[in-house]
Amino acid sequence: MDKLKFLVIGAALLVLLLVGCEREITGNFAEIDNADEDCLVCHAGLLDQAQGEWANSTHASGANVDYTNRGGSDCGRCHNQDGYLYYLENSTLPDEPFESAKAIGCFTCHDPHGTGTLAVRQTDPYVLENGYIFDHDDANQCAACHHARFDVTSDIYDNIEVSRRFGPHHSNQSDMISGTNGWEFPGEDYQFPLSPHVNQVEEACVGCHMANPRTHAGYVLGGHSWNMHVEGVEDNLAGVCAASSCHGEDVEEYDFLADADYDNDGTIEGYQTEIHGMLDSLAVLLEIQGVLEDGSQFATTIADANLAGALYNWVFVEEDQSSGIHNFNYARSLLEASIDYVDGLPAPPPTVAGTAPKMVYSH
Ligand code: HEC
Ligand code: HEC
Ligand code: HEC
Ligand code: HEC
Ligand code: HEC
Repeated sequence: MDKLKFLVIGAALLVLLLVGCEREITGNFAEIDNADEDCLVCHAGLLDQAQGEWANSTHASGANVDYTNRGGSDCGRCHNQDGYLYYLENSTLPDEPFESAKAIGCFTCHDPHGTGTLAVRQTDPYVLENGYIFDHDDANQCAACHHARFDVTSDIYDNIEVSRRFGPHHSNQSDMISGTNGWEFPGEDYQFPLSPHVNQVEEACVGCHMANPRTHAGYVLGGHSWNMHVEGVEDNLAGVCAASSCHGEDVEEYDFLADADYDNDGTIEGYQTEIHGMLDSLAVLLEIQGVLEDGSQFATTIADANLAGALYNWVFVEEDQSSGIHNFNYARSLLEASIDYVDGLPAPPPTVAGTAPKMVYSH
């Protein structure tokens, strides 16, 4: 080894050791040969940019870490690093909250000091709550947390008591993209398909949300920021759609022009706007049935499982939060089937005098 290289490695190691003294080493070094160069494979600048992007992510913000760090519930398995790792090991969480739970960070998804690589922990397929097998390479790591918390078929039945949190939770992106686990109306000939975005986008979630790493000013989009758009930032990752050869080269925004007037308001708008139009129409119908109020959920008992299913579908599309991007046809079909069904129900006798709500959709 030449002298300069030795000095550089020596200095870098010294820095590492000093850092190590101040910072708790959370990783497991067991499988790393403690020879100098093993450490420098990663610790010579490789991690800096990922860290810069990560700092701009919702994961790093730790927004709901304290709120969800409760004993005796499953919140922590997705909302903080300690809970995720504990659950991985034990398939349950402790009765007490963690002493100081950490935000989702490097060691949540990677185990570099255990494996000596930057591979993600969840490379095996991830089984969703309804048994559907999600298998898209590194995106399996995303599915481990971004999945619906319930199996819709056992979650919905006649005379169900719903709370204002009724629905799949805010995390049903893997179900949506897989075209599964919405309330699929029996006997109807709707399309409930898989999204082309799972198979044609390499590594599904990763192919879009981690696209173009390190190419954005301020590291705010793609890569380890996982952001597709940022409030106040003009730029977005629509270039990824344009470059896909599936959509036109001139695609500049996610809400690009649809091929039909799906919400029946007389104008063909962007795909996302069409989904919002359908969501609004379903909301009006659910309000007429007394199971939604001013666009908000509330605790009540719903006699008819299919009406509960329609409410579930409304929440399902809302909570996915991509306004149809993850799986346009599944979102559209769930809404269309729900609108048809609820529209066909007799209106219950009015309880409050007033004007009838206005509907955009007529089917
Ligand atoms: C496969 C890549 C990889 C290798 C090899 C590696 N590390 Fe790390 N190390 C990481 C990552 C990723 C982090 C988290 C990011 C950070 O804190 O910089 C980290 C963090 C650390 C930290 C901060 C600890 C903490 O809890 O935040 C120390 C100290 C450390 N490594 C020491 C070492 C030493 C010593 C070696 C060699 C024995 C080594 N690492 C080898 C990837 C690696
Ligand atoms: C299966 C994983 C999982 C479990 C279990 C889970 N969450 Fe979440 N939760 C998520 C994900 C993923 C998001 C982020 C979705 C997003 O913002 O798009 C989220 C978002 C949230 C939000 C933020 C909503 C917002 O609009 O900003 C709150 C609050 C929340 N969860 C509370 C809880 C509570 C309380 C529990 C336990 C009772 C819980 N979560 C259990 C995965 C989970
Ligand atoms: C939410 C899960 C998640 C977290 C948290 C995470 N990573 Fe990653 N990381 C991934 C995935 C997935 C890939 C593979 C990306 C790909 O295939 O393009 C990856 C790849 C990498 C790579 C290799 C590819 C590249 O970007 O050069 C590095 C280096 C890396 N991560 C470092 C880090 C560091 C440092 C942290 C903490 C600041 C971190 N990761 C946190 C999921 C995560
Ligand atoms: C350990 C569980 C976990 C893993 C693994 C994970 N996430 Fe998350 N993710 C969350 C939680 C929890 C939130 C919401 C945090 C909050 O709002 O409090 C979130 C937030 C997000 C957000 C921002 C949502 C918003 O409303 O701002 C995006 C985008 C995201 N995740 C994408 C991904 C992708 C892509 C992957 C895979 C590379 C991934 N996540 C892996 C748990 C996880
Ligand atoms: C085809 C590209 C694509 C794929 C594949 C994809 N997403 Fe998205 N996702 C988007 C776009 C675009 C948006 C934002 C829509 C907008 O801003 O209007 C989004 C929004 C989100 C949000 C809400 C974030 C926010 O800022 O409001 C979360 C969370 C999320 N995606 C997670 C995932 C997960 C987890 C997967 C894999 C199961 C996934 N996405 C797959 C493109 C994709």
